[in-house]
Amino acid sequence: MNKLTLTIFGGTGDLTYRKLLPAMYNLYIKNQLPKEFLITPIGRRDYTDTDYQGVIEPWISEFAQVKVKDEQLQAFFEHIHYFRMDFTTQSQYQLLDQYYEAHPSENHVVYYAVAPDFFEGITDGVSTMENMHEPKIVLEKPFGASFELAKFLSKKLETLFGSNHIYRIDHYLGKEMVRNILTIRDANLLFKNVWNKDSIDHVQISALEEVGVETRGNYYDHAGALKDMVQNHLLQIMSIVAVDDPTGNMNEQQLAVLKQLRSVDKLKIQDTLLLGQYDGYRQELHVDPASTIETFAGLKLFIDNERWQGVPFYIRTGKKMARREIEVKITFKRQREDVDPNVLVIKIQPTEGVYLEFNIKTPGEDSITKAQMDFCQNCNLIFKLNTPEAYERMLHACMIGDNSWFTKWEMIEYSWEYIDALKQMYSDANLPVYTYPQGSVEPKELSQLYHKDFEQWN
Ligand code: BG6
Repeated sequence: MNKLTLTIFGGTGDLTYRKLLPAMYNLYIKNQLPKEFLITPIGRRDYTDTDYQGVIEPWISEFAQVKVKDEQLQAFFEHIHYFRMDFTTQSQYQLLDQYYEAHPSENHVVYYAVAPDFFEGITDGVSTMENMHEPKIVLEKPFGASFELAKFLSKKLETLFGSNHIYRIDHYLGKEMVRNILTIRDANLLFKNVWNKDSIDHVQISALEEVGVETRGNYYDHAGALKDMVQNHLLQIMSIVAVDDPTGNMNEQQLAVLKQLRSVDKLKIQDTLLLGQYDGYRQELHVDPASTIETFAGLKLFIDNERWQGVPFYIRTGKKMARREIEVKITFKRQREDVDPNVLVIKIQPTEGVYLEFNIKTPGEDSITKAQMDFCQNCNLIFKLNTPEAYERMLHACMIGDNSWFTKWEMIEYSWEYIDALKQMYSDANLPVYTYPQGSVEPKELSQLYHKDFEQWN
C-alpha cells in the first residue's frame, strides 16, 4: 500500500518538468517522502516509463536544488509511472480508477497542472473514482477561465471534496524571504514599533523578470501582468507586509488588508495604474500581433486603515527587464530635512537577504553620512542548503495536510474583483499601454506615479 500518491494532470507540461518533479526529487533526497510513494504524471502522449524518464531527466538535473546523482535519480524513477489518458474523456477515468485499485494509497494528492478550462472535467472525473479516497486537490492560478467560472468551480470543488481538501497554490507563499518578512518585523523591536504610517514613508514592491513569455503566449496573452503576477503574488506580498498582527492567522489577516485597500471609486486611475508592453511582444509565439495586453504593470495603492493611512504602496512587475529581482523596499520618514531616510530592503530573489541603510557621523568630520549593512542569506551555505524551494515546501505542506499557507477562495475573489475593476477603469479612460524596450527596468512613464515620493526607482 502506498503511503502517498501524487497524480499530476498535465504530466507533460512545463510546470511539471520545471517545478513539480524537481521539487519532488528534492523532497525524496531530503527523506521527506514516505518510503512507499508513487508519482503518476498523466498525459496524452504515448510514452513508456523509459521514454518519460528520458524526457524528464534533463529537467530534473537542471532544476532540482540538490545535486543530481545518477544512482539516486534511477531509484527516484522507480516511483514514477506515466499514465496515458485523455483527461477530457470521462470514460477514461474508469481506467485511472482501475490503476489505483491496483496501486492503492492512503494519501492522494491530485495536482491540476493544466489550463483552467480543464478543471471542471477533471473534477467530475476524479469525483467518480472509487479508489481515489478523499483526495487533496491542488490548483494553480488562474483558478478558472473567468471569474464566474472560478467561483462556480470553487463551490463545486468544496462541495465534492471538502473545503479543507482544496489547496490553491501561490508559490510565492513558499518563498523563504516572503515568510521572513513576518519574522523580521515581529522579532525585532527595531522594526516592530515603527511598522506604521508614523514612521514609514512609502513601500516599494518590485518583481522584475528577465524572461519574456517564452512558450506561454496562449495563456499570457489573455492574462497579462496584472492577472499573472499582481493579483496573486504581489498582492500576497503586499498584504503580508501590511498585516496588523504578524503572528496571527495569515489568511484572516491578509484578507483584512485586502478589504481595506482604497476602494476603486475613490481612485484616480491615472495616478494608480500604468501598463506597458515590451517591444517585440507582439511577435512572440501564440500572441495576437495586435495585442494590447500588458507585460508590465505599475501600481500605487493605499490601505485605508489606522496603521497605513496615507502610505503609498508601489508595485511594479514586468517581463524582459534588465534583471531578475524581487524585493520589498521600505523607506522610512526623514527625521530631519538634512538627513537621509532609513531604508530597509528585504531581498526575495535571486539574492535572499536584508539590507539596511542608516546614518552615521562621517569619520573625522561633523557631517552625517550614509552607511549600509547588507546581509546575504543565500551566501551562507548551510542556510542555502536548508532553504526549501517554494514548490517543494508547498507540495510537502499539502502532503501532510497543512493548508495554512494556501489561499482561501475569499481572498482570491476579493483581489480578482479589485484588479478587474482597475483594469476596466484603465481601458474606459483610454489610457495607453506604453511600449518599453527590452532590458529596461520600467517604462519611463512610470515615474508619473511615484515622482512625488522618490526620484528614481532603480
Ligand atoms: C508565475 C507566473 O506564477 O510566476 C510566471 O505565471 C512568472 O509568469 C513566475 O514567470 C515567476 O515565478 P518565480 O518563482 O520565478 O519568481
